[in-house]
Amino acid sequence: MNFSLTEEHLMIRDAARDFAQTELLPGVIERDNAQKFPDSLVRKMGELGFLGIMVDPKYGGSGMDTISYVLIMEELSKIDASASVMVSVNNSLVCYGLEAFGSEAQKQKYLTKLATGESIGAFCLSEPEAGSDATSQRTTAIDKGDYYLINGTKNWITNGGRADFYLVIAQTDKHKGSHGINAFIVEKGTPGFDIGPKEDKLGIRGSDTHTLQFNDVKVPKENRIGDDGSGFRFAMKTLSGGRIGIAAQALGIASGAYELALKYSKERKAFGTEICNHQAIAFKLADMYTEIEAARMLVLKAAWDKDQGNNYDKSSAMAKLYASKVAMEQTVEAVQIHGGNGFVKEYHVERLMRDAKITQIYEGTSEIQKIVISRGLIKE
Ligand code: CAA
Repeated sequence: MNFSLTEEHLMIRDAARDFAQTELLPGVIERDNAQKFPDSLVRKMGELGFLGIMVDPKYGGSGMDTISYVLIMEELSKIDASASVMVSVNNSLVCYGLEAFGSEAQKQKYLTKLATGESIGAFCLSEPEAGSDATSQRTTAIDKGDYYLINGTKNWITNGGRADFYLVIAQTDKHKGSHGINAFIVEKGTPGFDIGPKEDKLGIRGSDTHTLQFNDVKVPKENRIGDDGSGFRFAMKTLSGGRIGIAAQALGIASGAYELALKYSKERKAFGTEICNHQAIAFKLADMYTEIEAARMLVLKAAWDKDQGNNYDKSSAMAKLYASKVAMEQTVEAVQIHGGNGFVKEYHVERLMRDAKITQIYEGTSEIQKIVISRGLIKE
């Protein structure tokens, strides 16, 4: 067993840290206020290879492993979780989904653009009446011979307005339950496909979240991903990897808040000394660091499982469950250590606290992760 990162991993982590400090930090508060994320930053993330981290270079990707992916996710998330969710969805839901399950023609046409950041992707599973209960898809895709006709509504879609290509999960035959579901690639601008207004959110406010409407949208048959009826398995397998990305995002939010709290506690004085010298604060720091390190081990273990070709359904769910809990709890502590300053925007920790909450909700709530973990345990 070796707990050290390789030279290459350290270089990748440092490159992501440098980008986060120099490019993401300036303007992060303004982007959160304005609910905006500029195209110029998306382009830069693409140029650095952050939008196709694990994709094979023959499809334009960076060809890195999952450990590299989580290191990059942690560093970006320390500073701007709105940027990192875009990176996570594009990498682990869209690019991975296409590379693992798409046809060669789909990879050439779509993956090559998504992996370089020339195009952005979105993953459309959630619906007003099918969130945690993902099998209950109401969006329908009716087989019309050489095309499918898609009707329905998808909501809370990350990159919803910005994306060029959308992976849409829909029910083709409701009598077949989870085996009657398919996944399709839908291009922006297809007639009948409309993007609703942007959501006004508690956290990750810079990220682009929309409801999508499909009214008689014609999708050519060659845009179905995988065999007929494989869409639910596609969504579940893809989400297992996505959960490693969100776990790394939660880890980054927690460690970003911890680093700010540690720095502040060494500068701020009360009762004649820096507040880190008071046991009330020192013990908080000790607990924060310990919890964050425990989360880091689970995140790296899930990434390692994926890289080794092991089943990672359970380890990714455990990493997400635990890291998101740590993110929520430790960002609250970081605000507490900052006192009144923690409650104002310029100190960053209140944003990290707001951003932490979504990590317990998207890509499967904490309750769903417990279903996945317990089913995995019972099956073993
Ligand atoms: N890999 C392969 N196959 C899988 C699988 C996996 N990880 N998980 C389930 N399956 C298969 C099952 O084996 C089963 O197949 P058989 O019928 O052949 O045995 C089939 O899929 C149905 O599985 P279940 O019976 O387990 O299905 P269920 O209805 O009990 O639901 C669930 C399982 C885990 C609760 C699932 O519905 C789930 O994960 N829900 C949460 C959905 C979610 O994460 N949504 C997030 C939205 S995306 C998002 O947030 C993106 C964003 O923009 C940030």
